[in-house]
Amino acid sequence: MNKTILSLSLISIAAAGAVVACTKAQAEEAPAIDIDRVFADCHNKVSNSLESLKDSAGAINYMIAPRNIAPGQTTWHQRPVCAEEWCSGFWPGVLWMDYAANGDKKVEREARAYTESIKTIVDAPVFDHDLGFLVLCSYGKGYECTQDPEYKKVMLNAADSLATLFNPQVGTLLSWPRNVEMFGGHNTIMDNMINLELLFWAAKNGGDQKLYDIAVSHADTTMTYHFRPDGTCYHVAVYDPESGAFKRGCTHQGYSDSSTWARGQAWAIYGYTMVYRETKDPKYLSFVKKVTDAYLSMLPDDKIPYWDFNDPTIPHCSKDVSAACVVASALLELKDYVGETDSERYDSEAKAMLTSLTSDDYWSADSDSFLLHSTGHRPAGSEIDYSIVYADYYFYEAMLRLKK
Ligand code: GLY
Repeated sequence: MNKTILSLSLISIAAAGAVVACTKAQAEEAPAIDIDRVFADCHNKVSNSLESLKDSAGAINYMIAPRNIAPGQTTWHQRPVCAEEWCSGFWPGVLWMDYAANGDKKVEREARAYTESIKTIVDAPVFDHDLGFLVLCSYGKGYECTQDPEYKKVMLNAADSLATLFNPQVGTLLSWPRNVEMFGGHNTIMDNMINLELLFWAAKNGGDQKLYDIAVSHADTTMTYHFRPDGTCYHVAVYDPESGAFKRGCTHQGYSDSSTWARGQAWAIYGYTMVYRETKDPKYLSFVKKVTDAYLSMLPDDKIPYWDFNDPTIPHCSKDVSAACVVASALLELKDYVGETDSERYDSEAKAMLTSLTSDDYWSADSDSFLLHSTGHRPAGSEIDYSIVYADYYFYEAMLRLKK
């Protein structure tokens, strides 16, 4: 889709033709997002990507998958599909969602091929907590589309494997076995909340009921220790692996131990919304509202966060579009669980985020990715102001939720 047409069709251009509908009031006045046009543009980009991924003989190597696009580049940089690459499941997930939106059988065939490349990871002993991301985003999205019993088997095996990271003394899954020494204990990162969905799913679909208890224990322990009184979170919580005592909260990918890393807060919002869905325990609902409202209160006018809310160089630092995508998707679920006033507020915030994301400021006019301007791991100098595949994944999920 032509960039100008996309902007004109999606965005409140108000009087002056300025692109982004930023404030809540503006968002409420904005014309509805043209969902069909967005899906058509996403489908074009997916189709273009699949062509670009072919080698000179017209074949795709499914053991590497799209990860990011550097500023100024137009085609995906790929990384190996393996346990050490936590993003390997997002591209198959994008393909499954594109198939769900458009019904293109060619995309379904490619989604299957990429998904099945993940199986080697599940067959090996668990490397770290990202097994949940890897399997939920590939096999999980595929199972939603196909109900393929082989996919179910892989997911059940993966859940059992993920659960081996659980430490009953602490009450959480260990995120990074390789980093126990570096952090000085059992480390759990906020991102790990997302992986609980695989445990809940398995417990409902023929797996061991203990998987449900593990997920609840992880959510409860994280709720107790991983947050500050104002509802913001640490990226990492470190526990004594023997006594289970909480030792400290700190960061790995954020600005500082006391700062709020935007994507970490986004994982918390998405994670506790999902935990409420799976348990219907009202304590998670009041908690996730607090965590969400803390995030919303810190956003700049265009609703797209800087990579860390406490970077002192704001506004001269990178944004993180991926965090906005995660939160937009979560809010479009959370709005169905809360009372009318909050529901309208979360719906309006999510739409304002999607309106901003589809504006010229963030939508990629020229490359195979949907979105620009995500930040991967800023302290490590990695993927700063890039297009990153998980931003596209959560954007697509948000658009499907909006359509529903
Ligand atoms: N789970 C790693 C990240 O959010 O960057």
